[in-house]
Amino acid sequence: MDATFRKKNGENGTQDSMYLEEQTNKAGVLSCIFSLREEVGALAKALRLFEDKGINLKHIESRPSRMNKEEYEFFVSVDTTYAKALDEVIDGLRTQISGHVHELSRSKMGDTVPWFPRHIQELDRFANQILSYGSELDSDHPGFTDSVYRARRKEFADIAYNYRHGQAIPTVEYTEDERKTWGVVFRELKTLYPTHACREHNRVFPLLEKYCGYREDNIPQLEDISRFLQSCSGFRLRPVAGLLSSRDFLAGLAFRVFHSTQYIRHGSKPMYTPEPDICHELLGHVPLFADPGFAQFSQEIGLASLGAPDEYIEKLATVYWFTVEFGLCKQGSEVKAYGAGLLSSFGELQYSLSDKPQIRPFEPEKTCVQKYPITEFQPVYFVAESFEDAKEKVRKFAATIPRPFSVRYNAYTQSIEVLDSTQQLRNLADSINSEMGTLCNALRKME
Ligand SMILES: [Fe+2]
Repeated sequence: MDATFRKKNGENGTQDSMYLEEQTNKAGVLSCIFSLREEVGALAKALRLFEDKGINLKHIESRPSRMNKEEYEFFVSVDTTYAKALDEVIDGLRTQISGHVHELSRSKMGDTVPWFPRHIQELDRFANQILSYGSELDSDHPGFTDSVYRARRKEFADIAYNYRHGQAIPTVEYTEDERKTWGVVFRELKTLYPTHACREHNRVFPLLEKYCGYREDNIPQLEDISRFLQSCSGFRLRPVAGLLSSRDFLAGLAFRVFHSTQYIRHGSKPMYTPEPDICHELLGHVPLFADPGFAQFSQEIGLASLGAPDEYIEKLATVYWFTVEFGLCKQGSEVKAYGAGLLSSFGELQYSLSDKPQIRPFEPEKTCVQKYPITEFQPVYFVAESFEDAKEKVRKFAATIPRPFSVRYNAYTQSIEVLDSTQQLRNLADSINSEMGTLCNALRKME
């Protein structure tokens, strides 16, 4: 995997998040995916097109095609200086090799509003847009030379790649070694939660133990957790095969969908992972997504991202980083952790609440431009007054994003409504009206 794809963390903690990089624009890289029939010489022919135009590939990887079982997909990245030549190669791929070509670079859209999913089912499209397949590991990954681990990672990547909305997330039989790794992480972190985690995390955790199989000797199943979350807050999980762009990852949140990994870190270093893994998702993220206030806050970030210009996606991804991943919040006279990157890292959870880091109030317009290291503990954390307060602030911040429409999530149809016509506004007014009626009625009865 191209090293630039990854956010990394220090030896001591599990900072992630590999979803956060808007790689296609930020690093001056253009990417596309093309598929070819599995036959001798097909790839060589395709690569010759790149060679003929003098294009140097920065990155290439292959994966089985989702569309057609007899085809393979190739994901390639080139430097933006080859933009024009790449257009010609794409034409060549389409006309000479009859490969399906899917361009991932969105900067070409100019002034138009970037595409975003309108219905929850359209999140299926992201599986085809992942920027790398989960079995590719960096050379400094603890599992890089472990062929058994790599094969296992491919199994997980295949599950996620073939997953479609509405299906049950396949159950995984975890090995004894995998359960051992989970057990170490689970046991250590659990000792810190009563004193370091926010009250929402501590309230939900026993429920996860009771209903979802959270135990030292058992790795819970994503499907069980997804059902549990749906009953608490309407959030659900979706397995993810690899790296998603920030735009796609944030769009999932607009539908109360969290893209979750299912594999576990390498057993040689149970307290370290260079990328999100099931320990990070299940111990860090899941408890918070069960809280209705936090769920709404997370969805607010997702809704703000739909159709937003690229520079705002980066800002929202930074807000996400300092809240959902590394957020602290006030609770009474104390400060507690609610960020998943903290709640899944034994070392950083303690550090974040010590007197070492700088603590600043959460203000989206300032937080969104804060630079942050990815290889070590954060020098700066932002403290929210409450989830409610953070949500209002994100909502105000979202209003400053240049977008010619407002959006609203309709939970009945599981779709995004673009509020750009009087009819849409009338529908919204009607629905608020009926909610108001319910509220007034209830108030009258309580008097
Ligand atoms: Fe995360």
